[in-house]
Amino acid sequence: MSTDLETPWVEKYRPKSFEEIVSQDISTTNLAEFIKKSYDMPHMIFTGPAGTGKTSTALIIAKKLLKGDKYYRNVLELNASDTVRMDYVRNELNNFVNQNMILKEKEVKIVILDEADNIPKTVQQTLRRIIESSPPNVKFILMCNYINEIIDPIISRCAVFRFLKLSEEKIIERLKYIAKQEKLALPKGKEKEFFEMLYFISGGDLRKAINTLQMSVALHLLKDLDTDEILKISGFVEKPTMEKLIISLIKGNYKEVKMIFDSISNIDSRNFLRQLNKIILSIDNMDKKDIIKIKTYFGEIDYRISQGADEYIQLIALLSDIFLRINKKDNE
Ligand SMILES: Nc1ncnc2c1ncn2[C@@H]1O[C@H](COP(=O)(O)OP(=O)(O)OP(=O)(O)O)[C@@H](O)[C@H]1O
Ligand SMILES: [Mg+2]
Repeated sequence: MSTDLETPWVEKYRPKSFEEIVSQDISTTNLAEFIKKSYDMPHMIFTGPAGTGKTSTALIIAKKLLKGDKYYRNVLELNASDTVRMDYVRNELNNFVNQNMILKEKEVKIVILDEADNIPKTVQQTLRRIIESSPPNVKFILMCNYINEIIDPIISRCAVFRFLKLSEEKIIERLKYIAKQEKLALPKGKEKEFFEMLYFISGGDLRKAINTLQMSVALHLLKDLDTDEILKISGFVEKPTMEKLIISLIKGNYKEVKMIFDSISNIDSRNFLRQLNKIILSIDNMDKKDIIKIKTYFGEIDYRISQGADEYIQLIALLSDIFLRINKKDNE
């Protein structure tokens, strides 16, 4: 078998058993216990960042409890976009929940609700009532990135499992496994650099890491390891530009800083912040206090951007702040 580029690797390597779920040990051990007695299983919420195994885990549970035909009959998968309309939720769920004619005793039914944090609050109220009045063989599994967007009465009816961002070690381990399965020719002597870059790009999101790996292979960027191109297609700034930017910051040439910044097209502000954040630490002629202040400022800028502030203005403000701190002594 040679490298397979026909199927998306995220799907091909979607874990099929609890053992295959990487790094979420605490959650999965408890879960395996819970589902042994499926009829007494609580409703559940899986919460945490993207690409950490929530949907995969829900599917494993459903497939484990309901084999073959039963899976199709007894599992209802809904997405947030299905749930915008209240009457749809009400009808669809009520139909599913209350249809119990053909079930054997203690046979469970599972409702999988993805992106539950995007369900409008009023619809969540309806959902809560449906959960409350469902027969005990119906189990709800809700998934979300932000649990604070779920109303309390739902949370209190569920066992909450928190999924964490995956560590560098775990991400690289999984990528290496896939690379081996796909018989990839990794760039000689640069494997470490390659995997570390994939981890950086992923930010702990395994889906993103796997997708970037596959994309790098599909675009033939692996052989001579074109890291700049890989960074670029992943929405990051290529290294030479970042380096030039830092040099101008240190040199105290603000005009140049601005020029280089403006030359970056399609900037992804979140990614840019992460790259800058990493590099700032490597500048040695800055005192600790300033680094701490800049770090605090990073957090603030990140928050403002997440709240919809103008990204260009925020990033320029941050660069100006860094500039002033680095060049403080010369100005005094
Ligand atoms: N913990 C994990 N162990 C193994 N593979 C994983 C894990 N997390 C993610 N993956 C890989 O990433 C893909 C996406 O994972 P999954 O759909 O479970 O993420 P999710 O947590 O539901 O993300 P989202 O919040 O974006 O829905 C999987 O098909 C699998 O290839
Ligand atoms: Mg998911």
